[in-house]
Amino acid sequence: MISINPMWTTFPALHDELVQVEKVIQDNIQLRNKQIEAALVELTSGGGKLVRPAFLLLFSVFGSKRDVTQLTKSAAAMEILHLATLIHDDVIDDSPLRRGVPTIHTHYGQRNAIYAGDYLFTIYFELINETARNREDVHLNALLMRRILLGELDQMRFDFKTGMTLKDYLREIDGKTAALFQLSCEFGARLTDAPQQIQKTARRIGHNIGMAFQILDDILDYTKSADEILKPAGEDLRSETYSVPLLFAARNYPELPQLLQAPMTEAHVNELVQLVAEYGVPDAKQLANDYTQKALQQIETLPDSGNKAILKDITAALLARSF
Ligand code: IPE
Ligand code: IPE
Ligand code: MG
Ligand code: MG
Repeated sequence: MISINPMWTTFPALHDELVQVEKVIQDNIQLRNKQIEAALVELTSGGGKLVRPAFLLLFSVFGSKRDVTQLTKSAAAMEILHLATLIHDDVIDDSPLRRGVPTIHTHYGQRNAIYAGDYLFTIYFELINETARNREDVHLNALLMRRILLGELDQMRFDFKTGMTLKDYLREIDGKTAALFQLSCEFGARLTDAPQQIQKTARRIGHNIGMAFQILDDILDYTKSADEILKPAGEDLRSETYSVPLLFAARNYPELPQLLQAPMTEAHVNELVQLVAEYGVPDAKQLANDYTQKALQQIETLPDSGNKAILKDITAALLARSF
């Protein structure tokens, strides 16, 4: 029995399609190495929010050609690309927990984790190959995947010795996170032949939702516990990753940059988490809210038919999420 994150039960039609998406994902994970296969299946069935496939499906009602099999596979492709980047991201950040279960590299070592992530990239390519209608569809995927990876590489250019500006940060998350939201929204509209103007709006909405999504993820790292977010909290400090709460805290509390040193002791992490929560999180929330409001205004310009109301609900709910 396939079950997905209960957050979708309020949207029954979408919920049922996401169950199909999860089925496509699990059917496609087939390895001779059964331990890694089991680890990948555990990760996919571990309560991930499935936000990216959900947006692809939600934008697929603005066009006239709705082929459910094609859309389900494309939505699965978005999630599989996301999963691959998560596995690699956890190796890079040396993070022990993901979706409440030990990360693949913690159990099976970095080499297995890197190849497991690469393996998922090949499943993503295969699903795109099966669903793309033309070379432009493939090209769009290649371009956006490149932006995701360049964003991740950007993140690694900065540590507590080099410093980082807000502009650097926004460029990084535009790649590492917003690009996949942008792709999911635009691809959903495109595959069903939605009018050009709607495809363009879908792209912009995806960008703004993605920016807000990452800023909120960065806030949760400072404000929630591992039990709530199903991954370690305070991890961005431990891995010397700048994010917007820290950047705003450094601006509002000028003594803070002197406190950033590596490696961090746990006492030091705890002290900084408090400072950032107090001095950086309020401005970061405001910025996430600004991106969300922009997305909501753009959603308002979409035709009234279709999923406009659901899109608004989900976009607002993502800003209020606690995991
Ligand atoms: C985590 O993404 C990585 C970010 C881009 C912030 P999600 O918060 O969507 O993670 P899952 O898929 O629900 O586990
Ligand atoms: C998201 O950034 C990275 C990817 C796009 C894979 P984070 O590093 O903040 O993601 P989490 O917090 O580990 O989920
Ligand atoms: Mg990480
Ligand atoms: Mg994070």
